[in-house]
Parts: sequence; C-alpha cells; structure tokens
Amino acid sequence: MNTIELLRLADVDVRGKRVLIRADLNVPQDDAGRITDDTRIRASLPAVQDALARGGAVMVTSHLGRPVEGRLTDADTLAPVAARFGELLGRDMRLIRDWVNGGTWHASLTSGDVVMLENCRVNPGEKADDVSLAQQMARLCDVYCNDAFGTAHRPEASTHAIARYAPIACAGPLLSAELDALGRALGAPRRPLVAIVAGAKVSTKLTILRALAAKVDTLIVGGGIANTFLLASGQPIGKSLAEADLAGEARAILDAFPNKVPLPIDVVCATRFAADAPSQTKPVEAVKDDDLILDIGPRTAAALGRIIAASGTIVWNGPVGVFEFDAFASGTHAIAQAIATSPAFSIAGGGDTIAAIAKFGVADRIGYISTGGGAFLEFLEGRTLPAVEVLIERARGATAAR
Ligand code: 3PG
Repeated sequence: MNTIELLRLADVDVRGKRVLIRADLNVPQDDAGRITDDTRIRASLPAVQDALARGGAVMVTSHLGRPVEGRLTDADTLAPVAARFGELLGRDMRLIRDWVNGGTWHASLTSGDVVMLENCRVNPGEKADDVSLAQQMARLCDVYCNDAFGTAHRPEASTHAIARYAPIACAGPLLSAELDALGRALGAPRRPLVAIVAGAKVSTKLTILRALAAKVDTLIVGGGIANTFLLASGQPIGKSLAEADLAGEARAILDAFPNKVPLPIDVVCATRFAADAPSQTKPVEAVKDDDLILDIGPRTAAALGRIIAASGTIVWNGPVGVFEFDAFASGTHAIAQAIATSPAFSIAGGGDTIAAIAKFGVADRIGYISTGGGAFLEFLEGRTLPAVEVLIERARGATAAR
C-alpha cells in the first residue's frame, strides 16, 4: 500500500479550525475500571498535541469495548480514559456526553481547547457505518483526522463514512506511522521472513495463517493453534485446547507448505488449567489423555530460537504458551528473548503479545510494536483496511466532501 497518497495531519493547516480526531483509546481495564495498560492513550497523544500546538480546537473520540448502541453504561464510559489522557496531556480533559448534535460545548470551542467525546460506539448507527450519523459528526468539524490504526479494519461511521463528508479528511501521526512501518517491513522484507502466529483458536486466525504461509519462509504456530496443527499431524494432544473440526484446514496448510511450519517436539503439560498446577515437560508423542499442553518445551524453544536468530524479518502475533502463569511462561519468554536478540527487524502486535513483551521487558528491543490487534492481523494478511482506503480515496479526490 502506498501511504504517500494519504493526506497527513502534519500537512493540514489547523489554525482556528475544529479538528475531530478519531483515536483508538480502547484500553484494557480491570474489574474496577482501572486502566491496566495505557499504551494506546500514550500513542494517541501526539496527534492531539500537534493539533493543539498549531492552534486547532480539538475534539477527540474513541470507542471503548463493544457497547449496545443507544445506551451508555458505567462499563462503556470513556471517563477513566479522559482522566488518564488529561494527566498525560497535563490539562483537564472535559468529557462530553450526547455530543453528536453539538451544543453549547461545541459553540464555545476555540483554538487551543480540547475535549473528549464519549464512546462513539454508543451512537446509534456507528457500527453500521450509517451515513446520517457520519454526516452529523462531520458537521462538527473542519478537519477530520483518523488516528485509530487499531480500528482501521472496522468500517464504522466514525472511522469510515465520516471521512467522506468531513470538509478535510486526513491521517493522524499514529495511523501514518503504523502504515509506514508495517508497509516498509512487509512490502520488501529482508529474508528469511518468519511469522509467529499463536493464540487460542485457528478459527479466528485461519485466513491469516493461510495468507502468511504463502508469503513467509517459516510460519511458527503456537498455543491452541499449534495444538490443532499437532492433532492434524497425528500427534496426541490429550485434552488440550484445539479445534478438531479445523484439523483438516491445518493439514491442508502443512501439505501445501511442507517444511515451512515447524511443530513442537516437546511440550509443558499439566492436568488442570491453573497457575499452581504441577507442570511436566515431555516429548510431544508422550502427551497423555488427561494432559493439557500449556507451553512449548525447551528443545522446541531452542529450535525456534535458532530459526529466529537466522531470520531477516520477524512478525509476531500471539504468545506460544500460557505466559500469565509462571510455570508455563518459559516458551514465550524464550521466543521474546530470541526476537529481542535477533539482528532481524521485528514487528509485534496484538494485546496478549504486547502484554508478553512488557512482562519480559523486551519492548526496547522490538523493531516496531503496533497498537493494532485485529487491524494488525488484517494488514499482515494483505487486506485493505477500510478506514485507510477511504482516506486514500479522499486524497485522490475521488470522493470530495459532500
Ligand atoms: C481492538 O482492540 O482491536 C480495537 O480497538 C478494535 O476493537 P473491536 O475489535 O471491538 O472493533
């Protein structure tokens, strides 16, 4: 994808203009609503700071979770996000509810002001990419800036349709940086290109597995995905998480790309899924009926480490074991360490992957950490991200503001 065709916020004169920034502030929270990782908030600050510094009047909005449209519950509010954003920005961040039709808050917005607009996914029509909602939102601004890479795969009113109707539609610095970094690394990757795709289910990542198998030199699978591949290759997996109905799909990938998908040769098992469950390392063929495979074993980790060390580019999505439990964290730790010490350019993305990177303290040795989960995967798959596509259309003048 040629991101040069995008209009960037930095190229737009925002002085005295109302700038609506769609960010992705969908951050994880604990049961009490406390933010457990503010990476996406930090990553979204530069767009707001830049627009403010250049005299814009800034409104920033985001979705949080997957609320029911038309009803704002305590779990859906951006209040904790606004508080944290304000802290990081060093100023008060007023949170506006029921904002779609403007109001006195909007009329009084002037250069240098910043407000946060409540969870945009609560607005009826958001998820359906509704045109009238998009037009209403577009009327609130002179400049629409999409900086939400994490939501760029969702064609929703605030990420997609609005870009057709806002007087000016541009990409924010985070969206631009993500597209530049991922495009550069994957457009002409230094070989060998190694992808690590792990996680609970093949079903959620089947298309990416297929697409990557064709592009990469080695596809390392992990977690429940690896279990399904082990099952497909006739290995015992006991009562491990797997999708037996997708073993055929896994088999097809193994057959189509022989030698590209190395499977675990040893694993760490337990008989129950718990942090304190006694663990046992064993060759994969020794897995018993009542075993749960919860991590890769040391021989597998060493073999994968050698592949990673010899690679030119590494793409990482998903931990290879239950790294949240210390007894089953060694495999993911070893992979993280191997990536960190490899001379290859590495790109990582996805919530669990970022948590693992933080846990093992290797963030400063990963080439690029994406804020996207689903968007990151769709980009890797080679799919066009709708929120990016519409900005490209606007930049080409194909859909001038209506
Ligand atoms: C994410 O967390 O991947 C993005 O914020 C998108 O969220 P969604 O999957 O609920 O659309």
